Amino acid sequence: QSPFGKKGGKDGSCMEYVIGIDLGTSGTKTVLFDREGRGITSALVEYPLYQERNGWAEQDPQDWWDAACQTLRQVTAESGVAPEDIKGVGISGQMHGLVMLDKEGKVLRRSIIWCDQRTAAQCEEITQLVGKERLIQITANPALTGFTASKILWVRENQPELYARCAHILLPKDYVRYRLTGEFATEVSDASGMQLLDVPHRQWSQEVLEKLGIDPALLGKVYESPEVTGEITKEAAALTGLKAGTPVVGGAGDNAAAAVGTGVVRNGRAFTTIGTSGVVFAHTDQLSIDPQGRVHTFCCAVPGAWHVMGVTQGAGLSLKWFRDNFCASEKETAASMGVDPYHLMDKEAEQSPIGCNRLLYLPYLMGERTPHLDPDCRGAFFGLSAMHTRRDLLRAVMEGVTYSLRDCVEILRGMGVEFGEMLACGGGGSSPLWRQMLADTFQCPVKTVKSKEGPALGAAILAGVGAGLYPSVQQACDAMIQTNPPQGPIPGNVPQYEAYYQLYRSLYPAMKGSFQNLAKLG
Ligand code: XUL
Repeated sequence: QSPFGKKGGKDGSCMEYVIGIDLGTSGTKTVLFDREGRGITSALVEYPLYQERNGWAEQDPQDWWDAACQTLRQVTAESGVAPEDIKGVGISGQMHGLVMLDKEGKVLRRSIIWCDQRTAAQCEEITQLVGKERLIQITANPALTGFTASKILWVRENQPELYARCAHILLPKDYVRYRLTGEFATEVSDASGMQLLDVPHRQWSQEVLEKLGIDPALLGKVYESPEVTGEITKEAAALTGLKAGTPVVGGAGDNAAAAVGTGVVRNGRAFTTIGTSGVVFAHTDQLSIDPQGRVHTFCCAVPGAWHVMGVTQGAGLSLKWFRDNFCASEKETAASMGVDPYHLMDKEAEQSPIGCNRLLYLPYLMGERTPHLDPDCRGAFFGLSAMHTRRDLLRAVMEGVTYSLRDCVEILRGMGVEFGEMLACGGGGSSPLWRQMLADTFQCPVKTVKSKEGPALGAAILAGVGAGLYPSVQQACDAMIQTNPPQGPIPGNVPQYEAYYQLYRSLYPAMKGSFQNLAKLG
């Protein structure tokens, strides 16, 4: 089935559509779906990531809004669907980023985003102020550099004049919501990544806010993901081609939205995504928290449920870094053939054997979360020999990311969070080679859903529930998602990957001290 099936309408077969906006790190993708989950039109606009210093990462909220407007205009215009037939809009997005607005709603500074690592000192303060155990009890996570709370403290300490003018704190996708609806609102899944939410009780934590000295009035109202949070304003309608009054639902953080878009909405279901970051995500109806905080527990987009997820910071980012620095010829050839450079890179990597002729890669380009929680570690190739070629390095990057995801799987399994198969999504999930590596390394079947739209589909499904097209998230998923046949582990490959994985696991502990020394160098 083509992801862009026929649009109904004239014959009366289908007059109900929903839109999902996915505000990613490399760009914003907006997709219009019919009520069976078929993509009708899709548009993508990219924007820059600003990295002024090693470990810093910022983006401009205006770029996000421009991209949302442009992609919405494009999908509404190209689809030919009447604006009144678009029943709802859902937004998903990169989590944790800090957007600060003044009392007029103007952006005060660029957003410090999820992969920024400047806030180690603020994390220590948070741990001191709240107490390590208490923080994990309330926010379900230890203080983390990626999360929003430490970014708020950083701005308060380093740019007090800006902080004094701050009237609203929003997450990236919630800034787009504000521009679309005029409402300051968020929802539980993304709010879980701010480190200010009481995750077990799904509301802002007065205790944490008080101990950190953050005024609760700065934060938006918290909704469940499928709830309607506001309506498209007249101004936004004129800029986007949507109808004023169209409901905008809470939506979800990108991973919680990807879970909905892949049907991971019941116990026993899990997915892995390889986007800029890489995630292993499992749904759970029961709250389950790792007391060591190596994986995150967040509210999920299914009201009343949670998810446990491990995150590797530099997954697709590692391959993109490799592409941009070492694959100029693939980029050129791909452009002349009209194909994706990653497709050619896959073919190259396939020519190197499992283990890449004894070469390992550590994907810590932006520090690491699961399982090390270490902002100072950095990437490495281990075992370089004069016999290695670029192909070996390329495959090593893919294998290293896979091992880092296996680290996440190990922790989930250790917590008793079980799954029988793994859905794969994100850019990396569309590579058959990478999927086979996942199956062989996780030692379970891996499959994909037919729609390639992951978080955008998830956000649209939530819009469908909020607009009343479906009674529950689970029922909407049953109606709107179809899967492809699974790809099982290849028995001969499993022990080979296992041996390399065990060696991979020993490298970080051996280098931990050296990473710290490296971080101290000028
Ligand atoms: C999740 C996380 C990333 C971002 C960017 O905790 O930091 O997945 O949401 O995609």
